[in-house]
Amino acid sequence: MGRIVAVANQKGGVGKTTTTINLAASLALAGQRVLLVDVDPQGNLTSGVGQKGKSAPSGTIYDALTAAEPTTDAAPFIIPTGVDNLLLLPADRDLTGAEIELVTLPHREKRVRALLTLVRDRFDYLFIDCPPSLGLLTLNALVAADAVLIPLHCEYFALEGLADLVGTMRRVRAALNPALDIEGVLLTMFDERTNLGQQVANDVRQFFREKVFRTVIPRNVRLGEAPSHGLPVMLYDAKSRGAEAYLALARELLERSAATAA
Ligand SMILES: Nc1ncnc2c1ncn2[C@@H]1O[C@H](COP(=O)(O)OP(=O)(O)OP(=O)(O)O)[C@@H](O)[C@H]1O
Ligand SMILES: [Mg+2]
Repeated sequence: MGRIVAVANQKGGVGKTTTTINLAASLALAGQRVLLVDVDPQGNLTSGVGQKGKSAPSGTIYDALTAAEPTTDAAPFIIPTGVDNLLLLPADRDLTGAEIELVTLPHREKRVRALLTLVRDRFDYLFIDCPPSLGLLTLNALVAADAVLIPLHCEYFALEGLADLVGTMRRVRAALNPALDIEGVLLTMFDERTNLGQQVANDVRQFFREKVFRTVIPRNVRLGEAPSHGLPVMLYDAKSRGAEAYLALARELLERSAATAA
């Protein structure tokens, strides 16, 4: 069964979408079957893999999530990306309404979980890109996930607000998804030239210990440019430091899961 990883941090602009796209693409290029799930009404994941405005004939994830009864088969909503082994459940602006519409629907926190039930065993990894909030869409992602990957921007206040995410995870474990784990904490936009970056990285490692990935994502302009071409960074500039970093992260993730399985 595929591993479901929610990429979450309610803080905006910390590298959730960049990490989702480039980690997933690295794994797909390594032969893993990967599904991208966009639950952010901004639709940055969808546009970042070149699929802005695209959907399957059945519609976007909005249509799947707001049906009268929970949808248990995501297959009719999945579309290809330009990358082999990398498929997408796309989102668009409509999803903004789901945050409100879901409130009155049955099983409102379990809709994403239900949606992935039948397709899950067709993939090795399913990555859910969350919006920058702890609303119902993020809650749905946490209820669906085996584990949460938390990107942290290496700047002052990086840890601020994280208590809210950890608290939400605790409540999700208690009520809806007891097995929810932390996949790892990822330091992003790291600038080695500043002491602040070093200091924040040290603080984060002291707090999250072995949960922090060894791999650190540097600040790299190619990572910012690639989405406007609708490409993962390794297909945009394979030699860039950003591409190397996300390929290293994928290796680390696979090594970790092999170690856990053994
Ligand atoms: N390592 C990096 N180096 C340089 N730019 C980066 C890096 N990571 C992300 N960016 C850029 O920073 C901005 C925010 O990144 P991203 O969209 O991945 O964050 P996010 O957490 O998904 O944001 P949101 O909370 O709005 O969903 C984007 O313009 C992205 O291209
Ligand atoms: Mg995002």
